[in-house]
Amino acid sequence: MNKVDIQKAAEILRAGGLIALPTETVYGLGADARNETAIRRIFAAKERPFDHPLIVHLADFSQVPAWAREVPPAAIQLANAFWPGPLTMILKKQPHVLDIVTGNQDTIGLRIPCHPVAQAVLQEFGHGIAAPSANKFTHISPTTADAVHEELGAKVDLILDGGECDVGLESTIVDLSGKMPVILRPGMINAEAIEKVIEQPVKSEQSEIHFVRVPGTHHVHYAPVTPSILLDSNNIPAFLQSLRADDLPAAVITHSKLVLPDLKKIHHVNLPEEPQAYAHDLYRTLRALDNLRFQCIVIESVPPEPCWDAIRDRLNKASGRRV
Ligand code: TXA
Ligand code: MG
Repeated sequence: MNKVDIQKAAEILRAGGLIALPTETVYGLGADARNETAIRRIFAAKERPFDHPLIVHLADFSQVPAWAREVPPAAIQLANAFWPGPLTMILKKQPHVLDIVTGNQDTIGLRIPCHPVAQAVLQEFGHGIAAPSANKFTHISPTTADAVHEELGAKVDLILDGGECDVGLESTIVDLSGKMPVILRPGMINAEAIEKVIEQPVKSEQSEIHFVRVPGTHHVHYAPVTPSILLDSNNIPAFLQSLRADDLPAAVITHSKLVLPDLKKIHHVNLPEEPQAYAHDLYRTLRALDNLRFQCIVIESVPPEPCWDAIRDRLNKASGRRV
């Protein structure tokens, strides 16, 4: 990425515009976190309800106290261990933080990303960038610049292309604003890793704030448009056999050595067996399959180990409309 693009991005932010920027997790749709009009444009572009708060991205830890009025010891430990990186912390907010950023709550989500392009923009801009994932509300988060274009196109003033995102799933969100740390959204930094650093138990609520605050209204998050169904390996062959032959083909995503029945109407994608590599490929794969036409996307359920928690969470959400 050349310096001119970074400067242009910072200028757009200063002028109240929107940029799409790569982070190590997924692409974000960024605006100046202090500019209410700019933030409103984010919600409009995403068609996102206003009660879904945004994460503010910062260049380094020295900026944290300007946004959070309390920084507990656990936050410092986690920052030392995982920032810059794919972790978001929920902390008590400073009074000046815009209500539109926090969804009228007393807390704020903060993250210091490590992607070199995100870092360069944050440093050049010098202030917090509010950035949700750069997708339409309820769609799959983009992990490439092309995917951002597909989602938001002309609604963004500048899309910075930083290649494919390394992690491929959204950051882990840990709430440190209450008595006990709570994971609100699992990510590739899992509960075990967090507990090890802060040496205290962490609760897993696995419910982002919008699931708690507006129960029942938005079941389908991170979802492809094609009906998706999550099945244990041993149920997949029979399910595929039962599909109507005169319908569109079915896509199947596996990660094990499962042998599929020899049917013409199957498009098989075998993702890596290892969770980091699987996470990296998942959204790109779902998006690609969604753009082709299938009667359904059958996804093999993943192992119960904690290193698969974030993936399992997204697969459950992706197949939510069938539940
Ligand atoms: O990896 C990521 O976190 C990406 C990249 C761009 O940084 N961002 C992202 O943002 O996933 P978004 O808006 O798609 O998801 C942010 C989540 C939302 O579910 C929101 O409810 C939660 O963070 N959140 C933000 N502020 C919060 C707060 N004060 N309390 C509880 N949840 C909060
Ligand atoms: Mg999102």
